[in-house]
Amino acid sequence: MTYHAEFKRSIDQPEAFWGKQADAIDWIQPPKIMWEKLDNGHGNWFPDGTLNTCDIALDANIRAGRGEQNALIYDSPVTGTQQSFTYLELRDQVAIFAGAMRAQGITKGDRVIIYMPMIPQAVIAMLACARIGAIHSVVFGGFAAHELAVRIDDAKPKAIITASCGIEVNRVIEYKPLVDDAIKEAEHKPECCILFQRPEAKASLVAGRDLEWNAFVANAEAVDPVPVKSTDPLYILYTSGTTGKPKGVVRDNGGHAVAIRYSMSLVYDASPGDVFWAASDVGWVVGHSYIVYGPLFTGCTTILYEGKPVRTPDAGAFWRVCEDHKVNILFTAPTAFRAVRKEDPEADQLHRYDIGSLKRIYLAGERLDPPTYEWLREHTSLPVLDHWWQTETGWAICCNPTGIDMVQTKPGSATFPSPGFNVQVLDPEGIPVAAGEQGDVAIKLPLPPGCLSTVWGDDARFQNTYLAPIPGYYSSGDGGYIDEDGYVFIMGRTDDVINVAGHRLSTGEMEEIIASHPAVAECCVIGANDELKGQVPLGLVLIKDGATISETELEEELVDMVRERIGAIACFRQAIIVDRLPKTRSGKILRRVIRQIADGQQYSVPSTIDDPAILEEISQHFTS
Ligand code: COA
Ligand code: AMP
Repeated sequence: MTYHAEFKRSIDQPEAFWGKQADAIDWIQPPKIMWEKLDNGHGNWFPDGTLNTCDIALDANIRAGRGEQNALIYDSPVTGTQQSFTYLELRDQVAIFAGAMRAQGITKGDRVIIYMPMIPQAVIAMLACARIGAIHSVVFGGFAAHELAVRIDDAKPKAIITASCGIEVNRVIEYKPLVDDAIKEAEHKPECCILFQRPEAKASLVAGRDLEWNAFVANAEAVDPVPVKSTDPLYILYTSGTTGKPKGVVRDNGGHAVAIRYSMSLVYDASPGDVFWAASDVGWVVGHSYIVYGPLFTGCTTILYEGKPVRTPDAGAFWRVCEDHKVNILFTAPTAFRAVRKEDPEADQLHRYDIGSLKRIYLAGERLDPPTYEWLREHTSLPVLDHWWQTETGWAICCNPTGIDMVQTKPGSATFPSPGFNVQVLDPEGIPVAAGEQGDVAIKLPLPPGCLSTVWGDDARFQNTYLAPIPGYYSSGDGGYIDEDGYVFIMGRTDDVINVAGHRLSTGEMEEIIASHPAVAECCVIGANDELKGQVPLGLVLIKDGATISETELEEELVDMVRERIGAIACFRQAIIVDRLPKTRSGKILRRVIRQIADGQQYSVPSTIDDPAILEEISQHFTS
């Protein structure tokens, strides 16, 4: 079947289409009903099916004869460690850890927060939760204690699983004090905290609450996977929205397993035995879908890499991993290769390694800028494939359908909609625009399997954010266009979300933090273009009349506040003090124009502006 025929079938007959894809996974009770429509136009996939996600990831591979094959290779240049686990070994460790959790009283439906660096125990903990039907919520290790506290209060976990430290370039970051502070700040108190001690930093335990990983599993008995309903949540993953409160994206078990398994063939053309490396972090959706679940659902060997593209130890790090583990498929964010290219523009490091095993390179998380695309193409001679997706969708909305037929790429485009995603570009009234015209990128309902089922604990927020803005559609929050050949170009967010080094952050949240400073009268934060990180946040701040703080001092305090509340990954380093902010007559800050000015782009003066002279004042700050 060609891509176009497969796509058409997925849109015309979604239930038959996905029913067939559902055959690719081992159900405990296969579904008879493929889709059930809900009142809000959204729906549940495979509502009467039962399965266990950990069973599909591990036990099913053992049943298929892959027990002795490597399931996971841990490669950690920051500690000088490499360790591999066969499917049998990983299953055994997961089953024991799951048994220990059950003995601790953690059962189906309980939430468990995992706040860990990129070590095998993070993967073991995720799969163990899935094995007993507990709902995991992984929090990226770069988030500060406050962010963790917000997630604890929202998910109300029974347990937190953590490690004594994470390791950044030449720097050990102690996690346990952050966990302790977060629990102190949160209103909800988890019953226990399970701590994996790493030799780089030993953490102390809180008596009566904390347990060391090794003691926790010492007398535990392995447990079998429990059946869960297709619609039961597998995980909650928080992602930035437009306010300080992150959204808990809820992923089901059944739709997720079917969609992720399908995507491994469609998008990545991966087969059992392939070595699959998603160079991301388990704290992000890429890590969930393509470090943990996708490769294991497919019988691949997945790489868990605790390091950076550069400085661990150099810009050859990625090529070294590809050679060492004979990686077949590599997936990362464009920013990673921008970092490599900056340090090694002629790709000299690449020639030190044999990357002959590598078949294709995939990029997502932010727009793949044409220079990075061209550089990779020129130096690797491999297919370089952009694909567009979001935490909410869990897999690619648009991709080059490599598993069916790889089509010609167009630089700057994420290629075609994946089967199941009826992508449309709409004007502000919700009417489709002509080919080549920019608008809001939306997906006509129903969404295919694998996408979010709701926002944790807040159906109204799910409805208002994603479904209400354009009735009958899922609003992606991205703007873009579809050209006359059907190629989709994603040009950037239309809301207050920015992408910093492939990390999704909320400018609205940064504004809330900055506005809480006693000397700040008003502020706005925009994402300004950055050569390496794609975007970096930039604050424009008005000082209160009578405030005595100097501009330098205020900037330093604001930078510290954002770092302290969100974490270092926010990369908030610059606050410009201004006299006025450009606004519409109704008082709305004109962020888009400010962004264009900051980026040195041409801008047109909006007709709704209150006082056009302010734009000139703002420009002065960027030219001086
Ligand atoms: N735990 C604690 N701190 C972390 C962290 C973690 N897991 N990850 C990042 N940080 C810290 C960094 O140490 C840095 O701190 P600093 O300001 O004190 O130096 C800060 O957060 C910013 O980190 P980062 O944006 O990663 O910048 P960097 O200069 O260290 O590295 C890149 C730049 C491009 C190499 C890096 O961002 C990268 O590899 N990006 C790929 C992103 C990715 O995989 N995204 C997932 C989507 S596919
Ligand atoms: P996240 O939820 O962290 O995966 O971030 C999702 C957002 O990243 C999307 O809404 C886009 O704005 C951006 N994004 C991801 N992949 C791409 C891509 N291939 N091209 C352009 N933008 C992308």
